This record gives sequence, C-alpha cells and structure tokens, in this order.
Amino acid sequence: MNFDFDEVIDRRGTSAVKWDKYAGRDVIPMWVADMDFRSAPAILDALKQRVEHGVFGYTDPPPELNDVVAASLERDYAWKVRPEWLMWLPGLVTGINLVSRAIGDDGDDVVTAVPVYHPFLSGPVYQRRTMTRVPMRLEGAKWIWDLERLEAAITPRTRLLLLCNPHNPVGRVFSRGELSALARIAEKRDLIIASDEIHCGLVLDRDKPHVCIATLGADVAARTITLMSASKTFNLPGLGCAFAVVSNDELRARLIRAAAGIVPRVTAMGFAAALAAYRDSAEWQRALVDYLRVNRDLLIERISAMAGLSVTPVEATYLAWIGVDPRLREPAEFFERAGVGLYDGRVFGAEGYVRLNFGCPRALLERGLARIASALTPRSR
Ligand SMILES: Cc1ncc(COP(=O)(O)O)c(C=O)c1O
Repeated sequence: MNFDFDEVIDRRGTSAVKWDKYAGRDVIPMWVADMDFRSAPAILDALKQRVEHGVFGYTDPPPELNDVVAASLERDYAWKVRPEWLMWLPGLVTGINLVSRAIGDDGDDVVTAVPVYHPFLSGPVYQRRTMTRVPMRLEGAKWIWDLERLEAAITPRTRLLLLCNPHNPVGRVFSRGELSALARIAEKRDLIIASDEIHCGLVLDRDKPHVCIATLGADVAARTITLMSASKTFNLPGLGCAFAVVSNDELRARLIRAAAGIVPRVTAMGFAAALAAYRDSAEWQRALVDYLRVNRDLLIERISAMAGLSVTPVEATYLAWIGVDPRLREPAEFFERAGVGLYDGRVFGAEGYVRLNFGCPRALLERGLARIASALTPRSR
C-alpha cells in the first residue's frame, strides 16, 4: 500500500499547539514534537467506527489490547511481557510525574542526563523531589551518558534514575552495552529506573536495534518501570494514551496507589487508536520510518554544510539537535525572525542548541531549511 507523506495538510484552524503558536505569522513550526502527517488508515477507520457508534461512556482497555501490545513487544524487542504488567495512562508525561511521586519521599533525589525532554526536569520537582542533572558527553559525534559524573552525582537520597531511550533530543539509540553499564550503576546504588521509550518505534538506523532496558536481566526488570505509547510513532498525541510496563508487582502497586484519584482513565478514542496502531498499522509505520530517514538524511546534509551550525547523527526520532555558533545569540529567536520556529536548547537544559522537528512533508522541510540557510548567509550588497 502507498501512503502519501508528501501531502501538505493545512492544520491551521484546528487549535494545533504546534501551528497556533505562530498563527497569523509566516513561521514554519518545527518545534513541539508532533508530526504534520495524517495518522495511519487503520487508526482513522477505528476512530470513525467508534464515532459512528456514538456513545462515549467510561471505557476500559479493549479486551485484546494488552495481548496485542505484549505480542508487539515480543515481536519487535524480544520482550516477553505479561498482559497484567501493563498500566494504562492518559499520557506519558503523567507517567513521569506518577513515577516521581511513587518512588521515594519528599526531598529525595532523581537523577537524569541533560539535555533531555523537559518534563524529565520539571516532573520530579512538581512531585517535591530534587533534581540532579548530569551533562551528557560528546564522544566524537556521539552523545553518551557520562558514567563517572553519574556515579559521583548519586547520593544516599537518590532513588530514581530517569532514562530516555531512544533519546530526545539527541536522537541516540543506546546500545546494549551502554544500557548495561547504566543498569549496573542502578543495581549498585539501588535505584529504580524509569525508562521512557516513547520513541522506540522511530528508529531510523537499520543497524541499531532498540533495546528495552527491562530485557537486560531479571534484576534490571524488577527495578524498571518502562513508559511507552503509540502517540509519537503513529502521531496521536492529541488523543492521550500511554502505558507503563512494570513486571514487579510491588512497584506496580505503588504506581496504582500514587495514581488514585488524580489520574483519569484513558478516553474511548485513545484506546481505539492505540489498538489499531499496535494491531493493524505496522506497514504504515515502516513507510513512515522510510520517509523520515530520507528527511533526516536531507537535513543532516544541509545543516552540516551551513557555517555556524553543527548536527550530530539522528539515529532515531524525528528531532535533530543542532549546535549553534555561540556568536549567534538567542538562536531560536533569530531563526523565528527568519520564519522557522525551533525549540531553544535551554528548554532541554543546554545552551547553544536548537531542536528541529523534521516530522513533516519534505516540501515543508525544504522550505524551512532554505530559510535557515538564507538567514545565515550574509546578503550581498
Ligand atoms: C521522550 C518523550 N516522552 C514523552 C513525551 C510526551 O508524551 P505524552 O504526550 O504522552 O505526555 C514526549 C513528547 O515529545 C517525548 O519526547
């Protein structure tokens, strides 16, 4: 089947967060992480059917959903998950907050590596934890966890390690060896691991398989809460549906207690979309990843050729982490004036970077890249 990712769909007037930020201005939005593609046909059909039915009462997960998710985790990541290990959540950020709330006590510490998806930094603080940020290290062109600094940063009050894999914003797919090294530290210092794997369906490099950290061994699994969702891969963030996989019964019970009374159910539409995503949309996903890979290659080639910008390999996600010459101050504002809306790196805890979302039709990406290039090229008089 052919899917048309080239179609430019007008999202203006749909209250899209991404586009409304620049309503009435000629700025191409390439900031927040959703894609400008229509979702997979099977998902659209499932949603239409649900609407046709017309009754939207409180809804449990569809009976086959946990089995379908478990089967896809086994097929894609050789992870044997029992259906009862799943806990459904109305969003992954809810999961980050919930884990922060469930693990440790007020004033205990949570550690993560920066730059990182910003709710990793705010969620624990909202839940009255302190936050320790360990800067990632550039090894050649590769962003890696700085294990020495991580070990040094862990205190007796550190209870939780937040991992983002594949990593937003640096686009890494951490290898089995890298994950094992992190897991060893978590074991030695008795930390719970919360692993946000929301981007696992968007691996672009064919030779870098996603490894779920919970598959590394029984002890790692017992201390790990994995957070996942169909929302990035299938472009469903507006439908609010995510889940935690927790094999440790005691840990799962803690999460359920922490959620009581404050975390709403997933909506009927969110469940319908998730089921159609995991059960019926693998072909669309493969086509999407092929399309994103070409976008990625185009972006890397163009950005690498621009004076003042640098970019590291994007192994997964549709997000590029772009270094900006320090002489170019306030880079996000600079590019916004040039007609391209990017996220400032400071949002993710790092100065001198912007993050660009290339999950869009190629024509839009081309236009955005051309605007960036011409903003950087001094005009001839
Ligand atoms: C690493 C990561 N986790 C979570 C989310 C958001 O999840 P949700 O919309 O389900 O809260 C994003 C969105 O960009 C993300 O990149």
